[in-house]
Amino acid sequence: MDKEARQGRNQKELELSEQSLFIVKPDAVARSLVGDVISRFERKGFKFLKLKMFTFSQAQAENFYGVHKDKPFFGELTSFITSGPVVVAIIEGNNAIATTRIMIGATKSFEAEPGSIRGDFGLGFSENIIHASDSQESYDHESKVAFE
Ligand code: CMP
Repeated sequence: MDKEARQGRNQKELELSEQSLFIVKPDAVARSLVGDVISRFERKGFKFLKLKMFTFSQAQAENFYGVHKDKPFFGELTSFITSGPVVVAIIEGNNAIATTRIMIGATKSFEAEPGSIRGDFGLGFSENIIHASDSQESYDHESKVAFE
């Protein structure tokens, strides 16, 4: 590939580049799966911009999962996510939001495709290993809450 074509390709990849957020949930941290999960995203080619371990406060969890506040499982959800340390990451790369959703697999881990993170590492529903932003709007909200 000549220099001009390469520059064109690099430009195109830059235009597709976006950021996403994922959280390694308390069940996966407790099972020492942090390295395995992070390594999937590194090997896929994403660049890590931010990474930290912390424990959600109740208020922070309710704010983070605010879109679910009227759902019957809201109490279960916030009680689980505050139950122990999590690891949160901001990653960057082509099509990051949609690609990350594909990589994590279906919400019910017991139905998630083998090869996906939930499909390979879990069987739970509330306790489903990992969360990832599902839209630009949720990324904007979630990254603000997680890194406030
Ligand atoms: P997550 O990707 O973190 O986004 C919201 C979470 O709510 C989801 O993963 C599940 O863990 C949880 N969830 C969604 N629906 C239900 C449900 N019906 N019962 C219990 N937990 C649920």
